[in-house]
Amino acid sequence: MSRPRVYVCRPLLGRALDILREGCEVRVWPDPEVPPPRDVLLQEVREAEGLVTLVTDRVDETLLSAARRLRVVANVAVGYDNVDVEAATRRGVVVTNTPDVLTETTADLAWALLLAAARRVAEGDRFTRAGRWQSWGLELLLGQDVYGRTLGVVGLGRIGRAVARRALGFGMRVLYTSQSRHPEAERELGVQWRQLDDLLAEADFVSLHTPLTPQTRHLIGREQLRRMKPTAVLVNTARGPVVDEDALVQALREGWIWAAGLDVFEREPLPPDSPLLSLDNVVLTPHVGSASFATRARMSELAAENCVAVLSGRRPPNPVNPQVLDGAR
Ligand code: DGY
Repeated sequence: MSRPRVYVCRPLLGRALDILREGCEVRVWPDPEVPPPRDVLLQEVREAEGLVTLVTDRVDETLLSAARRLRVVANVAVGYDNVDVEAATRRGVVVTNTPDVLTETTADLAWALLLAAARRVAEGDRFTRAGRWQSWGLELLLGQDVYGRTLGVVGLGRIGRAVARRALGFGMRVLYTSQSRHPEAERELGVQWRQLDDLLAEADFVSLHTPLTPQTRHLIGREQLRRMKPTAVLVNTARGPVVDEDALVQALREGWIWAAGLDVFEREPLPPDSPLLSLDNVVLTPHVGSASFATRARMSELAAENCVAVLSGRRPPNPVNPQVLDGAR
């Protein structure tokens, strides 16, 4: 029997390629830095039964209609806003993601950004390297205290909870807002539910952990930024378009909020003319929330396991459209 063909959009880490090669014929886009160009991807998916994608690879109606043999799209990420899940479901294509394995790593980065923005770590680094440090000064690079302040978590899923848990070590009061209340998290972590507007007004630090959906696009815009404290810090490790970036730039310039720590952007990679690049009160990282050696290997392996499971007729560990497997589309 011929082995199913899988196209992989980037060289994967850990044992992922070995897992795929055990039962499949695997073709891999070789460049670790840039995704396959659209025409290459459209060509490759013609024969593929499995596709392993990253957040940079757009799986839309056009691609799905070119991919007549496709049975599974295994995204190497917890977020899957790069995939038109509805279109995949209509065509009976299973979509999978990689939750859990990146929770703690991403929460660590949210905290790195929070602390860096609050205590001006990146600015201090630039200042020191530029040879501008003349003397110890009482007013040199003053920042905001973190210990004992109030954290607002927007979206209390896995990563939101992991961020909240870390806040307990900083003696913080933690507020959250979420589609529904989580009584068990309120009991276990002592977090308190608020409407988004109230959370924004009360929190000293606001960390975003919602998926990108039509409902969360520009969830944080002018009106919301206006509600925040002038001393507040906004952290985004979720998806760029959850924040209206033009509004954020204005908020940072005009002092509506004090600083921001951003790992994700409305356009990625961040364009060289982005106004964010000229602001000192923002710390920027290039969408690396899950980027630790161990976590990226585990994400790669989990995506491979998901892909192989579907192609060998088993239930994958992480389907995002289980209705395809359950026969109810
Ligand atoms: C995710 O998993 O959704 C990240 O943004 C990509 O690492």
